[in-house]
Amino acid sequence: MIFGGKAIAITGASTGLGRELAVQLARAGARLALFARNETALRETARLCLQVAPTGGPEPLVITGDVTRPEDCARLITETVAQFGALDCLIANAGVSMWARFEDIRDLSFFRKLIEVNYLGAVHCLHPALPHLRKSRGLFVAVASLQSKIGAPAHTGYTAAKHALDGFLESLRMELDGSGVGILSVYPSWISGTELRSHAFCEAGAKMGEARRSHTSDAVPAEECATRILAAMTARKEQLFIPNKYRWLPWARLALPQMLRRRIQKRVASQKAGE
Ligand SMILES: NC(=O)c1ccc[n+]([C@@H]2O[C@H](COP(=O)([O-])OP(=O)(O)OC[C@H]3O[C@@H](n4cnc5c(N)ncnc54)[C@H](OP(=O)(O)O)[C@@H]3O)[C@@H](O)[C@H]2O)c1
Repeated sequence: MIFGGKAIAITGASTGLGRELAVQLARAGARLALFARNETALRETARLCLQVAPTGGPEPLVITGDVTRPEDCARLITETVAQFGALDCLIANAGVSMWARFEDIRDLSFFRKLIEVNYLGAVHCLHPALPHLRKSRGLFVAVASLQSKIGAPAHTGYTAAKHALDGFLESLRMELDGSGVGILSVYPSWISGTELRSHAFCEAGAKMGEARRSHTSDAVPAEECATRILAAMTARKEQLFIPNKYRWLPWARLALPQMLRRRIQKRVASQKAGE
């Protein structure tokens, strides 16, 4: 995909990876629709995009809404197409996580939220977008997670939601075979420089905030993640593991399940609280 002039809608563009994707796509000359709930933060993303965009390019469209509401997602697509005349790419990036052992959770209601944002949020946006993506022979990018392929302690509900998203994409790929619409599934490991951990749900169902877990040095910076995603979009790849070495994880889960489980338990335990 050559990005110059392409109409691209991004959910979860107010912070973290979504903001980085927006800035790098703006630099490449894409016409952007930015979607999330926090309008002030979205406008800041739009400002950063304008700073790097080629001169004379259109301002990013700022659309506030919630991916758990199908009507907001339909509005994202309608307004993007009305403004740009087409939709070449939809990036379903909005997400929310958790950090709590299942037995310690005191309010389970956030499990519904995890499904609604991480899985249904992508479905709600893609359904109205598909006719336009068919027309443009465009691309659907879903930011899943390594946890779409493996489990992790303290992440039961998040892992379930990301597995649901992956299953949806597997079936959809078969339905869209030959349609011209590409699907890229992105499976990042831990990403640094985003708000995911402070916004994650904890035992009481509240956001973790300052009690968030720190990253170890092997987390991939959001900027590098976004660069890798743009390269995979250009190559119209079907899947992208970040870092690349983790592409063997689905095989390890089948071949060496106990060893893999022990390694994941150790890695999650190494992330310290509140640092
Ligand atoms: N960080 C990691 O280690 C990591 C690893 C693997 C995968 N991922 C995935 O990467 C994606 C981006 O996450 P991030 O790390 O950049 O975290 P982040 O900084 O917390 O960004 C999450 C984005 O999603 C938006 N969002 C959350 N709930 C929403 C809702 N109901 N409606 C609309 N937008 C909503 C947030 O905006 P508002 O709050 O303004 O709505 C924000 O823009 C997520 O899908 C996440 O699961 C992250």
